Amino acid sequence: MRTEQPKMIYLKDYQAPDYLIDETHLTFELFEDHSLVHAQLVMRRNPERAAADPGAGLPPLVLDGQQLELLSLSVDGRELTPGDYQLDDSHLSLQPEAASFVIDSSVRIHPESNTALEGLYKSGSMFCTQCEAEGFRKITYYLDRPDVMSKFTTTLSAEQHRYPVLLSNGNPIASGPDEGGRHWVTWEDPFKKPAYLFALVAGDLWCVEDSFTTMTQREVALRIYVEPENIDKCQHAMDSLKKSMRWDEEVYGREYDLDIFMIVAVNDFNMGAMENKGLNIFNSSCVLARAETATDAAHQRVEAVVAHEYFHNWSGNRVTCRDWFQLSLKEGFTVFRDAEFSADMNSRTVKRIEDVAYLRTHQFAEDAGPMAHPVRPDAFIEISNFYTLTVYEKGSEVVRMIHTLVGAEGFRQGTDLYFARHDGQAVTCDDFIKAMEDANGIDLSQFKRWYSQGGTPRLAVGEAYDAQAKTYSLSFRQSCPATPGQQDKQPFVIPVAMGLLDGQGREMPLRLADEAAAVGTSRVLSITEAEQSFTFVDVAEQPLPSLLRGFSAPVKLSFPYSRDQLMYLMQHDSDGFNRWEAGQQLSVQVLQELIGQHRRGETMVLDQRLVKALGSLLDNATLDQAMVAEMLSLPGEAYLTEISEVADVDAIHAAREFARGQLAEALFEPLWQRYQANREVSRSSAYVAEAAHFARRSLQNIALSYLMLSTRPEVLAACLEQFEVCDNMTERLAALAVLVNSPFEEEKAKALATFADFFKDNPLVMDQWFSVQAACSLPGGLRRVQQLMGHPAFTLKNPNKVRALIGAFSGQNPVNFHATDGSGYRFLADQIITLNALNPQIAARLLAPLTRWGKYDAARQALMKGELERILASGELSSDVFEVVSKSLV
Ligand code: TRP
Ligand code: ZN
Repeated sequence: MRTEQPKMIYLKDYQAPDYLIDETHLTFELFEDHSLVHAQLVMRRNPERAAADPGAGLPPLVLDGQQLELLSLSVDGRELTPGDYQLDDSHLSLQPEAASFVIDSSVRIHPESNTALEGLYKSGSMFCTQCEAEGFRKITYYLDRPDVMSKFTTTLSAEQHRYPVLLSNGNPIASGPDEGGRHWVTWEDPFKKPAYLFALVAGDLWCVEDSFTTMTQREVALRIYVEPENIDKCQHAMDSLKKSMRWDEEVYGREYDLDIFMIVAVNDFNMGAMENKGLNIFNSSCVLARAETATDAAHQRVEAVVAHEYFHNWSGNRVTCRDWFQLSLKEGFTVFRDAEFSADMNSRTVKRIEDVAYLRTHQFAEDAGPMAHPVRPDAFIEISNFYTLTVYEKGSEVVRMIHTLVGAEGFRQGTDLYFARHDGQAVTCDDFIKAMEDANGIDLSQFKRWYSQGGTPRLAVGEAYDAQAKTYSLSFRQSCPATPGQQDKQPFVIPVAMGLLDGQGREMPLRLADEAAAVGTSRVLSITEAEQSFTFVDVAEQPLPSLLRGFSAPVKLSFPYSRDQLMYLMQHDSDGFNRWEAGQQLSVQVLQELIGQHRRGETMVLDQRLVKALGSLLDNATLDQAMVAEMLSLPGEAYLTEISEVADVDAIHAAREFARGQLAEALFEPLWQRYQANREVSRSSAYVAEAAHFARRSLQNIALSYLMLSTRPEVLAACLEQFEVCDNMTERLAALAVLVNSPFEEEKAKALATFADFFKDNPLVMDQWFSVQAACSLPGGLRRVQQLMGHPAFTLKNPNKVRALIGAFSGQNPVNFHATDGSGYRFLADQIITLNALNPQIAARLLAPLTRWGKYDAARQALMKGELERILASGELSSDVFEVVSKSLV
């Protein structure tokens, strides 16, 4: 907990470190009621800084350190006394007498009572660490910044019986017994790394072993460590790891560099996973997956997160960030890499649809709220608050745009140059761009505005067809709303992938006015001006434009499509993503009309064109089932909120439910047929975690969710049968969720009880059980959630549980969370106040729904702001919560 007002840190104040740490030798003595950390740091003056100011003497050495009890300190073997150094609650300072020296320190820390899950802590009976971004300073006094890279040697000592497995980064080089039933192991990491990539684990763990032969025929041992009861849930992660290693060799030419790669699954973890060198630590939810306990979505998440952390070995570890403002250098790039990997492993179009829907719902909302920031922020109070959708997801979109602009080959040349030029260095987003520029002979200076300007650009598009001249012009006007600290924005470079469709649904050849001949039928127009137009010639008839194919830029594009035109694009666009997008826009138009009717107290009337459009998808057996499922999923309430000027929570919910009910009725027969056909295949074959099977089950399950709206007995029977008779969690959980949202109270209660009884010992499955109930939009949501807080499987100390129950309620249950009496807001604020003391990172993340007050009516705004004020006044706040609350209230 802070003792002073937290202060803002600025990118413009960056200075290289005064000192470097060539070697770091750590010894951990782990005990049940405390741990001891001995650190020997081989240090020297940073020559770069000395050269910049040659006359000056040696500057003071200021080491970071928090919540450490200093036991001893010496420099070059000479024990220091308190007068030789200064201590405050986050630093240890002293005046070096030579340009090179060795510091030895011993501190006592308390992992056993660390509930913040940062630094060294216990998850169940095992010790583990989380050092990114600034957790290492809670382990020992250090220069805890990513531009200080050091060679680490780590010795762990612990009781042999409780902690037979002792792990750290790199390779094990020595081990032996100790007195009192203890033992020790020494690990050495040959690669220099910043402290945020340090890790250790001690526990009674089992491991699944495999190996991988690299492109230069080196054998790498692969190990996934888990608690013994989970040893049967590691195969999918292991397969994903091997696929990732091969893919990074094939697509990026990147080979793994150590002889061993380890993953450890822990139950208590603030995020998804962490890319510590050679020793990735994972939230167990991102490792464990088998048919009976994990859904298709969970299987795909495991594959993606394993890949993401593995890919960091190059994009993050070998080449790391100079400072935390550059976080997107590693995260945006690595998200792009894992997204491409998932696209190659599964269905490319479906992956793109999922990512874009997620970005537009959540990142666009962040970009429109009080916490909006550029992909490279220029100031922060608490860096943990900047592991955001903007840094990760929008950052990935920025990298994707470069890929679109330079092409796959040019991009690969750029990354080759980047890795070769900066291997072993801590660099900036500018260095990444420079490598892309140099490898491709292009100028990306205007493009770089994507890193420095926040907010979601708007792109309004107009058209003009001249039948006489056979020319067709597209005019673009871009603008970007103000974001905190940024009033006026300069034009972005916006790559717009596009094509033109003729009256037969065919792609038309594209020839711009200044071109000698037509080239292709799909191309990328680069919009660089605030207003700009492009004229195509030889355009034989009035075309229909297909714009922003594949979502080629993270913008809000508007074009005045009619509903009939959208239906036409849904059928004929050659770009799969844009076929889905046309369906979404059609749904949005229809839903917004219903929302308006509901608000005016009119009877809602569904535009039958939506029924027709979705019906024809169901009738077409040749379409990809996953695409049909995606098209059938109407835009979510959160997305409808995001695109509203002022969101009417109840009208949005009523309109969407009305549309779902109408569709269910009108399309009952085809849905029922599709459901039964798919269910039959699922019933008669064993679970397979592959794209075609994901597709079949997703159509089956969305069909079931529509069918259950009919409340027909044969559907209820089918749902119960699916719930009871299946070999996998995807079918079982979908059936449970549908029951939970149905009016069949008896069946619902019975299913929930059977499920909980069967899975009570599996925390990840219980998370799902909490989530489906927390997200249920039926009246009484808050009461149900409050009751579940008292369930024996629930605890505020486990972030997965907090997300499953409180996060799902506040993020996925808008009608209940936004109850007009403010009870949902009050509940959330109460939990945040409690969590502020337990786990500041999780508390700050839970705040997100309250920061979105700007979207709601005046009464709700007042209630939401009232709760933010109450949190602010609730006592001593962590810097995490303080930053989000105070920025949300200006
Ligand atoms: N670098 C991690 C990733 O790849 C992020 C992360 C894991 C993290 N644990 C954290 C960030 C704890 C902040 C705090 O996504
Ligand atoms: Zn990452």
